[in-house]
Amino acid sequence: MNHLIAPSILSADFANIQRDVEMINKSEADWFHVDIMDGMFVPNISFGFPVIKAIKKHATKPLDVHLMIVDPDRYLQTFKDAGADILTVHYEACPHLHRTIQAIKALGMKAGVAINPHTSVNLLIDIITDIDLVLVMSVNPGFGGQKFIENTYHKIALLQEIIRTTKSEALIEIDGGVDLKNYAKLVDTGANVLVAGNTVFSSPDPTQTISDLKKI
Ligand code: DX5
Ligand code: ZN
Repeated sequence: MNHLIAPSILSADFANIQRDVEMINKSEADWFHVDIMDGMFVPNISFGFPVIKAIKKHATKPLDVHLMIVDPDRYLQTFKDAGADILTVHYEACPHLHRTIQAIKALGMKAGVAINPHTSVNLLIDIITDIDLVLVMSVNPGFGGQKFIENTYHKIALLQEIIRTTKSEALIEIDGGVDLKNYAKLVDTGANVLVAGNTVFSSPDPTQTISDLKKI
């Protein structure tokens, strides 16, 4: 498959959110990446349900919602109602991950699992056939604009092998520090979805940058 691009709204201009959503609508981007941080799981607070609803009102592409929150089971229905199409929870935040994944799917959303840089992809072996997506954090979660961690390539290769041997259909999404210098190697190694915040929104021409990130 051709790789997908998911610009991260975290780096958008919140005073001009409709303008930035419409830029993504018109661009070659595939999904909206929406980062939710609670100040507990990660040392930052991003935004909540009213902002997701405002994005959903204008977005013409799926909302890929990345929950960096403790105990996400409390809010699965609320994220569905706010407009999430894909809901990703962190492995490190879910003691009953299998139950959480089933609950997300029962609500009619695609289900993803995110892993922090220190978390081994091998820990996903018993859940990999139940999920639609693995989000590999390529920075420590909490902030946009951080430096890409090189060990990510190794994790992608291992994950691809696990996906192949289990006949899982999970997509591999890379989140953090993706730029015009590393995106091609990430795709070559096996990434299916690339999140890009700073690279898109700090560029002089975000639409063109999205287009550049789509080039194979
Ligand atoms: C980080 C978030 C990322 C972030 C990526 O905790 O999960 O989605 O927005 O931003 P960049 O692409 O700037 O590293
Ligand atoms: Zn994210």
